[in-house]
Amino acid sequence: MTKKSSLADGYIHGFSSNEQDRLYQQARVHEEIIFSQIDFSNQTNIVEVGSGVGAQTQIMLERFPHLKINCIDASETQVDRARKTLKDKISSGQVQVNVGDAMDMPFQDNQFDGAFVCWLLEHVQNPIGILKEIKRVLKANGVIYCNEVFNSTFYCHPYSPSTLKYWFEFNDYQYSLKGDPFVGGKLANYLMAAGYQNISTKVLTHQYDNRTPKKRAQFIDYWAGLMLSGADNLIATGRVTRELVEEMQKEFNQLKKDDDSVIFYSWILAKGQVF
Ligand SMILES: C[S@@+](CC[C@H](N)C(=O)[O-])C[C@H]1O[C@@H](n2cnc3c(N)ncnc32)[C@H](O)[C@@H]1O
Repeated sequence: MTKKSSLADGYIHGFSSNEQDRLYQQARVHEEIIFSQIDFSNQTNIVEVGSGVGAQTQIMLERFPHLKINCIDASETQVDRARKTLKDKISSGQVQVNVGDAMDMPFQDNQFDGAFVCWLLEHVQNPIGILKEIKRVLKANGVIYCNEVFNSTFYCHPYSPSTLKYWFEFNDYQYSLKGDPFVGGKLANYLMAAGYQNISTKVLTHQYDNRTPKKRAQFIDYWAGLMLSGADNLIATGRVTRELVEEMQKEFNQLKKDDDSVIFYSWILAKGQVF
């Protein structure tokens, strides 16, 4: 019997080709911080759940070239793009890409020795159900890494009220879609509830100020792109006006110009194990 779908009621970022390109760029922006904390050298066969366009898959294949990776994502559009990007690895049999719901995966019990989940649980209705489903397909001693947003941590200086108003609406909209923009803070509880053990969490951070002006400017550009990825949906639902979006863009330009600006964002990487 098919389990209840865990898909949220909508997807704030949309599936345009610009948005797909943004996912590849985003993966590289966070790569060093996230993957310096991830070790799949003792795994051979992992599942990547909510794999999107395969941006993280590419990175894992570069860093752990021995891995076999089975990807699954609910969106045909994202999976089509992943199939193009990962064409050679799919032909060689190293990677498989499936369309499917993380809540009801077409995999056998105890099939994998590792799992990777990145920026997925903020978009779903039943994160614990998904973590249980992942546990089902993991072997004894299998590990899961779960990297998830914690959107209340965003800070910038100078004070940017339009950006903060927009950010509130962005996060509130995700809540209204039955997602969770603060899911990172609950990851340890969710992993415990799903039956994992040896749970650990790390707070990962982008923090840029006068020490690193070039990285600060790059991160401001990335962050502006992330915020704007929700703009069409937020305007269409009447949550923000075009004027507010323009004011926010002006604030981002000001952040880039200001010699003393600060931008800060933290999120959570959790690890668990199956026994
Ligand atoms: C923000 S993207 C992240 C993609 C990828 N992990 C990355 O970091 O580039 C979230 C992905 O989760 C997928 N997704 C959302 N709900 C899902 C579900 N219930 N089952 C499988 N995939 C889902 C979406 O289609 C989307 O591709």
